[in-house]
Amino acid sequence: MAFLILAPSSRTSAWEKEIRKAEPDLDLRVWPDTGDPDDVTFALCWKHPPGVLNRFSNLKCIASMGAGVDHLLQDPALPEVPIVRVVDPSMARSMTEYLLMAVLFRMRQLDRYWQDRLQRTWHPRVPEQAASVRIGIMGLGQLGSDAAQAFFSLRFPVSAWSRTPKTAEGIDTFCGEADFAPFLSGLRVLICLLPLTDRTRGILNRHTFEMLPDGAYLVNSARGEHLVEEDLIAALDSGKLSGACLDVFHTEPLPREHPFWGRPEITITPHISSLTNPKAVCPGIVDNYRRMKSGLPLRHLVDRQRGY
Ligand code: NAP
Ligand code: GLV
Repeated sequence: MAFLILAPSSRTSAWEKEIRKAEPDLDLRVWPDTGDPDDVTFALCWKHPPGVLNRFSNLKCIASMGAGVDHLLQDPALPEVPIVRVVDPSMARSMTEYLLMAVLFRMRQLDRYWQDRLQRTWHPRVPEQAASVRIGIMGLGQLGSDAAQAFFSLRFPVSAWSRTPKTAEGIDTFCGEADFAPFLSGLRVLICLLPLTDRTRGILNRHTFEMLPDGAYLVNSARGEHLVEEDLIAALDSGKLSGACLDVFHTEPLPREHPFWGRPEITITPHISSLTNPKAVCPGIVDNYRRMKSGLPLRHLVDRQRGY
């Protein structure tokens, strides 16, 4: 029984160290040095080359190195074995910190003070109060719930939208397509924390933007494919949106010639809002490996039909 790390575009040394620490006797292999493919029963993956997982005829479980599993489900030849993902409080905390930074940076106009600084200009502006800035979070799962509570605790009015009905203290909750327009109306900031699925791809588009109040601000830290990029440019040009903070993009790294780089209203970060910390998550991943070996129920299972 071998445990394979299959993440060709990632540095894996920290993962190897933490997995060995959690299970010193593990037969650990790192792609492309798989040894006999028939030995591999568990594969920990990030952006694997499509089709390669079929080489492992005894594979029993696929684990995502991150919270998202779109990188796995995009493989049309993905073996029909259970998929598990990372669920970790430190990931939710890191995402929440990023979202608070994005919203407070904008709300306290730090972008304009940076410009003033270049001109050595002293120009006080009256700050907005949190109570007048309604935050809307798309996705009330592991990450969305933590963020919603953090904004609520700072006295922001918070709305959240999910696929199935949810209740959360202090949060105005909405669900399903029928609730989408009421959810969007009245938002000053729209935050996307949805998984990328057939139903959510391209959801940040001009129809969605039209349902927001003029001048709303967009934060996307879920996946680049949620956003129709040309619709964002058009919405900024028309003033429908006042700006955006983007952590994820259709093509990563964002190409140097991409029009987003030339837009000062867009804050760009390189997919860092919530990086997986191997030290924090490897014990849980190895726990799932042991569960697989013992035939126990796996934790943080993905529903393939739902796509997340
Ligand atoms: P999660 O726990 O699975 O939560 C997903 C939420 O989205 C749930 O509330 C779900 O509704 C809702 N949802 C799914 N499909 C929907 C639809 N069609 N309409 C409305 N709501 C829908 O996921 P998570 O752990 O919070 O992670 C969310 C995503 O964040 C990941 O998939 C990943 O793409 C992204 N992410 C990005 C970074 C980064 O660094 N940029 C880091 C980590 C994760 P229900 O509650 O009704 O099921
Ligand atoms: C990062 O993007 C993740 O899905 O964990």
